[in-house]
Amino acid sequence: MERKQEQQKIVFLEGEKVILRPLNKATDLQNCVRWMNDPEVLQFLSRVNPVSFMEEEEWFDNLANRHDDILLAIETKEGRFIGVLGLHNIDRVNRTAIHGISIGEKDYWGKGYGTDAGMVLLNFAFNSLNLRKVRSSVIALNKRSLNYHLKCGYKEIGRAREQFFTNGSYWDEILLGVFKEEWEKTRQKMADYADDVETLQDGYYERCVESPSLESSGPKIKSKSW
Ligand SMILES: CC(C)(COP(=O)(O)OP(=O)(O)OC[C@H]1O[C@@H](n2cnc3c(N)ncnc32)[C@H](O)[C@@H]1OP(=O)(O)O)[C@@H](O)C(=O)NCCC(=O)NCCS
Repeated sequence: MERKQEQQKIVFLEGEKVILRPLNKATDLQNCVRWMNDPEVLQFLSRVNPVSFMEEEEWFDNLANRHDDILLAIETKEGRFIGVLGLHNIDRVNRTAIHGISIGEKDYWGKGYGTDAGMVLLNFAFNSLNLRKVRSSVIALNKRSLNYHLKCGYKEIGRAREQFFTNGSYWDEILLGVFKEEWEKTRQKMADYADDVETLQDGYYERCVESPSLESSGPKIKSKSW
């Protein structure tokens, strides 16, 4: 009897909390349309108009022709598709690219998924694509995204003053960039921090043996796999 072949999970890149995989129109379109019509998400993407299924389908259909862009789905290790990120305008001469990211599932904001995905992508950008610098930008209103970028090693390189009209006001566009060496330092700092926390935690749990009530509020080990 012919055995039904088990569907293998596709993983392109892997972090501590997420995997990055190719987008799949059949399974991802519906969620993308939902996110692209959510004003809470759109306010950070300098988009105002709703996005139709037709428009989003066209976007998916064009992905195969975008040779200077790499777009990937962000999926939790538990298998939930939560957002999209990528590198755009990959320039092989100057060895640069522009980063974009959007986690559409709002329940997953502020829980470290973005940082994990962003660090994995930068590792790929610098150590596989051999890029030198990645640029990005955020609307000044978007403090979470600014902190996400700074946490991944990006630095502010300038401002386009009052570039975007969002939520009834004009906001600066903060221009950001990270060189490979800067990202490596950031990665090292994160790894050192994780080691410190781990050492701290070892001592902490030893103390917990004597006083078990301490255990529930103990420090958490941070991600360190990039
Ligand atoms: C921006 C985005 C990618 C960040 O990812 P995330 O998983 O939410 O962020 P993280 O949990 O990794 O947090 C990164 C840093 O942001 C900061 N942060 C988190 N929530 C924050 C908030 N509400 N306000 C300010 N800073 C915040 C923290 O300082 C955190 O660093 P820490 O871990 O040292 O505390 C994600 O929230 C997102 O896609 N949002 C919607 C669309 C969007 O804004 N896209 C970016 C357009 S430029």
